[in-house]
Amino acid sequence: MNFEIQKRTLSRIIRDEQDALIVLWPSQLPESLDIANPIVSVVRTAIQHGDFELKAGNVLSLYALAGVKSRQVVVVCTEDSTPAHMRRAIAAAWGALKSVKLKNLGVHALADVSAQALQAAVSALAEASYSYTSTLSKPKPRTLKQVMFSMDTVDAPRREALARAQALVQGVEVAKEWANRPANHATPTLLAQAAQGIAKGAGFKCEVLGVREVTKLGMGAFLAVAQGATEPLKFIVMRYNGAPAAQAPVVLVGKGITFDTGGISIKPAAEMDEMKYDMSGAASVLGVFKALAQIKPAINVVGLIPATENMPSGQAVKPGDVVTSMSGQTIEILNTDAEGRLVLCDALTYAERFKPQAVIDIATLTGACVIALGAVRSGLFSSNDDLAQALQQAGEEAGDACWRMPLDDDYAEGLKTRFADVANVAGRAGGSVTAAKFLQRFASRYPWAHLDIAGTAWRSGAAKGATGRPVALLLTYLLSHTTSKVPGQAAAKTPLKTAGRAKPRRT
Ligand code: BES
Ligand code: MN
Ligand code: ZN
Repeated sequence: MNFEIQKRTLSRIIRDEQDALIVLWPSQLPESLDIANPIVSVVRTAIQHGDFELKAGNVLSLYALAGVKSRQVVVVCTEDSTPAHMRRAIAAAWGALKSVKLKNLGVHALADVSAQALQAAVSALAEASYSYTSTLSKPKPRTLKQVMFSMDTVDAPRREALARAQALVQGVEVAKEWANRPANHATPTLLAQAAQGIAKGAGFKCEVLGVREVTKLGMGAFLAVAQGATEPLKFIVMRYNGAPAAQAPVVLVGKGITFDTGGISIKPAAEMDEMKYDMSGAASVLGVFKALAQIKPAINVVGLIPATENMPSGQAVKPGDVVTSMSGQTIEILNTDAEGRLVLCDALTYAERFKPQAVIDIATLTGACVIALGAVRSGLFSSNDDLAQALQQAGEEAGDACWRMPLDDDYAEGLKTRFADVANVAGRAGGSVTAAKFLQRFASRYPWAHLDIAGTAWRSGAAKGATGRPVALLLTYLLSHTTSKVPGQAAAKTPLKTAGRAKPRRT
């Protein structure tokens, strides 16, 4: 899907051959508006008769208007054109576009739309027109190929916003694709191949470690989760180098449980199918790299994905087993269903070798986070205030919000055990926090943040499927402290800053 932007008046746009035209109608009309325009005059009449109330998302569908070439025109109110209203307006307008074979779409804004609102419009259109096709014998792929935005002010920031939004759409759709795929079509091996495919297309590095290398590294916790599965584990290392090697990278760690049965602590049957999305953290890392490949910003980013299934079997790890993690800490695995933290803790230790400026792990980690925050905000946990603030702000900006949760040491009490340095579960209370407290033990040597996306990465119910979150948050964060390498694009807003200082090594 291709997005373009051009400076055009409404009177000019109606002479274009488009399959359909969306007109974004603000509640405050610009004075320059041509009231003789056929669309404007019909809409004004509808407003006068009380048939079109100026509230975000209200639509008026018009057909075969004299002087308008598009067969259908959908007028939609954007109210004050904030990104949130823009999203609502685009979703509503799409709902009114009944023609299934829409190929070319025009979107005309009567009043100026900010760069941020433009990005919101692009992601809302992509979201609305997305369809999953991979495992259907008669797929109905998206027909929409070309979207032409038009408005009065078309400047460099808006062009850049559009280019970034287009890259973001590709990243989000990579994340959706992998999280939506059934586990037998998204094995650790296939995830690794996807990572290598993205890297190859963009000329950056991707290394895939197998059980031999992981054993040599001493990743006892990751190995313990994988030992019950027949599908071989993979540890994926992606490296995007857009800046000089001296610049410390941001490391993204994505939980890659391609299917979570719970292991010996097996989950109930109802809705267990949804545990195919337990690699959404990994999928979001793939999505970010896909977008980085397009935008080519001047930053260094490392992606780490510990990928395995969590299965019950004769070889599976048993409740009460004690394993030694790569950090040397021993872990009593009291519940084999708390496997995410076990694969992540070894990846967090591995991350130390990159001397990172920050490490962010992304994981569908706890049902407790779904209870705490629902599907609206991801849970954000961080040992570093600057990093937390930057991520929170990126989430707001991207329309992919998160909410900071506490990390008081008192929450770690329940992780104490007589049989190892730490247990992998505490009680039911504060489950998303105790999971984060477990991870924090392995992330003491750099500024660290953890995003629990159990509630936000997936939509249940009728519109069941992956959301592609938090690719937008992560990409916005990464781009917020960098310069762009793409010629012709605007330069950075803020110079690169290191998010606080790492604590000294524990002995
Ligand atoms: N993958 C699950 C968490 C999850 C639950 C993600 C619901 C998405 C939706 C995770 O591995 C898990 O099973 N967590 C347990 C932890 C418990 C055993 C301490 C949970 O949340 O129940
Ligand atoms: Mn689990
Ligand atoms: Zn899990």
